[in-house]
Amino acid sequence: MKVIVHNVMELVMQDPNLSHYFHYTDMDLHNKRLAHYFAHITGGSEEWIGKPLNEVHCGMFIDHALFEQFFECIRSALTNKDVLTEDLHADVHKRFLETVR
Ligand code: HEM
Repeated sequence: MKVIVHNVMELVMQDPNLSHYFHYTDMDLHNKRLAHYFAHITGGSEEWIGKPLNEVHCGMFIDHALFEQFFECIRSALTNKDVLTEDLHADVHKRFLETVR
């Protein structure tokens, strides 16, 4: 999970439309939380005990296109690692977007 989060955030930080949002963020902490969240959303046993992500992102002026761009980074990282099959993809995408915006 750590490696996947690392790869996702590497892609996110290479994208100038996304990277500037993380200018003031403690990335170690963020990446730990993202790893927990991934474990939670992909059906792992971990409960999400953090703040609801729609509340976290609320007020950051993140539009639908940016969420899709972020999701593309997740998709690329997972596909590179052979974690995400096409079957899983639609389901995971839906669950992500239902909870993070
Ligand atoms: C599928 C999409 C996304 C997921 C799964 C996700 C997940 C997360 C998680 C788990 C956190 C940590 C929550 C916490 O600190 O309690 C977080 C924080 C954050 N997210 Fe997202 N996120 C997504 C999309 C985005 C997008 C598109 C942006 C901006 C373009 C963004 C910007 C941020 C920022 C700036 C923070 C850190 C806030 C701080 O500094 O405390 N996120 N996100």
